[in-house]
Amino acid sequence: MTGEDDPSREGDSGVVRRDRFSGGPARGFMSSLAADERIFAADLAVDRAHVVMLAEQGIVADGVAGEILAALADVKSAGHGALPEGEDVHEAIETGVVDRVGPDGGKMHTARSRNDEVATCIRYRLREDLLNSIGATLALREALTEAAAEHVDTVMPGYTHLQPAQPTTVAHFLLSYESAFARDTARLVDAYDRVNRSPLGGAAFAGTPFDIDRERTADLLGFDGVVSNSTDASAGRDFLAESTAALATHATTLSGLAEDLVIFANKGFVDLADEYSSTSSIMPQKVNPDTLELVRAVAGDAIGGLTGLLTTLKGLPRAYNRDLQRATPHAWETVDAVSEATAVVAGAVASAEWPEETLEAAAGDGFSTATGVADALAMAGVPFRTAHEVLAAAAERADGETPDLATLDEVAANVLGDSLFAYVSRERVEAALDPVESVASRDSLGGPAPAAVATQLDDAEASLAADRAAYDDRTNALDDAAETLRTEVEGYV
Ligand code: ARG
Repeated sequence: MTGEDDPSREGDSGVVRRDRFSGGPARGFMSSLAADERIFAADLAVDRAHVVMLAEQGIVADGVAGEILAALADVKSAGHGALPEGEDVHEAIETGVVDRVGPDGGKMHTARSRNDEVATCIRYRLREDLLNSIGATLALREALTEAAAEHVDTVMPGYTHLQPAQPTTVAHFLLSYESAFARDTARLVDAYDRVNRSPLGGAAFAGTPFDIDRERTADLLGFDGVVSNSTDASAGRDFLAESTAALATHATTLSGLAEDLVIFANKGFVDLADEYSSTSSIMPQKVNPDTLELVRAVAGDAIGGLTGLLTTLKGLPRAYNRDLQRATPHAWETVDAVSEATAVVAGAVASAEWPEETLEAAAGDGFSTATGVADALAMAGVPFRTAHEVLAAAAERADGETPDLATLDEVAANVLGDSLFAYVSRERVEAALDPVESVASRDSLGGPAPAAVATQLDDAEASLAADRAAYDDRTNALDDAAETLRTEVEGYV
């Protein structure tokens, strides 16, 4: 194609024409240039891959490609702050290229649209941010697993409804969160793999008559393939929703751990390092768990981000609508806040101390061993409901304390019509009342007994190692692609 019909023949009029539309009073309102700093490097990479592909396909001459690529390098070293004015980073970079190359610079935008371009930039940048958030969950899981390994035998009170419920161990408590965070890692990796597809070449939404090679640009940018349907490629943002939802889910669990640590710190069950606490400006004796309170609040930011994003996306028709410009920042804000919070909790966990004596002394508080005595009776053949009744009566009699054997026997006789010790030995009852033995007895799969926790620790370490490998694979693939693109570009400039 040549002459008037050649869509690549923008000349300098492309820039002038756009000025006619975006120069009015709404110019600032429409512009995403400031927010687009986040995707400045991404856009330059996308431009470079696109230009290399256009040259390889014979759509743009090698010499012109070389001039454009050199101009892009110059735009890059000048930085985002030096960009000419524009509606967004894509337009401003193109103007920067045209300013340097002349009208031929306008050939850069052949066979694409800002719609597929921005979608590609968002995915390109989000990959990096998701890898960062995945790395943060790995560090957190490592901190939890290491602390758990040190406290397999450290007995502590376990709670339901904030009341002492049954004795457990610090390791079992910490691994309960590690398991949940392992699922968060998996959700983030899963999201990453769906983000890691290239929309480039989808153009405005309806493809292009040029003989482009979408697989090639995908490859040069380190994507695992293309988003095939060109409308889906340019307009779809469910990858943003999925990523933000995975982060909000993670932040919600993280807020639960933060809250547990705040409560435990309050009871003297955990000592947080000074770097994760702060004091009061007026009350000199105060050591407040402020960092963890902020982590709790980050869940609010993440849920707000997800809600803002989904609300923006809801009801948008195909294909591109400018609403999408305001959807993206919700994801950036969420990923930044959550990754930072995850890293902070990893540090707080790694540096926390669990005072063993205090925890063990409190482990039986509130007659938390009652269930174990009921279990012993039930194992001797008493229906569990009847055993429950015996212990409930004993608990009421002891008024929050652990009853002595005589009281237990007296109450049991009322319910069972026979001595407690006709069913279970004194030694058996004493063992059930001992928090350490109580924990050791609960050795069913996944239970808190040190023997059961040893298996959970092994599993946690194995899954952490596997997830680290998955993280490294993805990081290396991106590094390799960046290196390939650099070499290809060098062939032209
Ligand atoms: N800044 C825009 C965004 O973030 C880029 C795409 C503009 N496309 C358009 N047709 N106006 O979505």
